[in-house]
Amino acid sequence: MHGHSAVGGYSGNAVKPIALRFIAELGQNPALAGMHISAMGGVESWMDALEFILLGGGSVQVTTAVMQYGYRIIEDLKSGLNLYLAEKGFSCIREAIGLGLDTLSPSTDTLERDTVVYPQFIRERCVGCGRCQISCADGGHQAIRLDENRRPRLNGKNCVGCHLCILVCPQQAICPGTKRIRPKG
Ligand SMILES: Cc1cc2nc3c(=O)[nH]c(=O)nc-3n(C[C@H](O)[C@H](O)[C@H](O)COP(=O)(O)O)c2cc1C
Ligand code: SF4
Ligand code: SF4
Repeated sequence: MHGHSAVGGYSGNAVKPIALRFIAELGQNPALAGMHISAMGGVESWMDALEFILLGGGSVQVTTAVMQYGYRIIEDLKSGLNLYLAEKGFSCIREAIGLGLDTLSPSTDTLERDTVVYPQFIRERCVGCGRCQISCADGGHQAIRLDENRRPRLNGKNCVGCHLCILVCPQQAICPGTKRIRPKG
């Protein structure tokens, strides 16, 4: 403005871990028990919204994602959330509010790391885009190769159960599968 610039403003998906932490702290605060918490900070998808609800959000606000993609993403968010809750047997979204608070660890350092949960590929949903293979390979583990039909195949020896592949799949064609306890040493 008038030949000057400034650095400021922080919103969107990058702010989500910080926002989740604060919503969880509000959700766990006994002085706020029963109070409505309106959550926000980096919500783009129904999965983001669900994370906030599980940590105590009674409603969820969306700003940056609507500015970037338009109001239509709210319909996707609602239908994704409804489908998920129905699949999991919830009769009402209120039943999910704060459900994750009791099992929230105080930090990532205290999480158990000896169990590997392998990804499971849902072949009917896969479109062969290869994002899971690229992310796993360039993320350092090289545990996925694409077969002759561009469908992912897992090399369990290299898989550490990080679930990066699940996060990047645009088709939700990967989900958590079988567990294995990592041998000691
Ligand atoms: C361009 C822009 C303008 C904003 N204006 C306001 C505002 O006037 N008052 C306010 O309380 N928050 C404002 N916010 C903050 C948002 O309401 C929201 O809390 C924040 O961006 C985090 O959510 P989000 O990641 O969904 O954007 C603004 C955010 C953006 C990106
Ligand atoms: S869980 Fe992690 S290591 Fe295993 S296949 Fe997926 S991205 Fe690779
Ligand atoms: S990212 Fe998903 S859709 Fe793409 S190849 Fe992997 S499993 Fe298939």
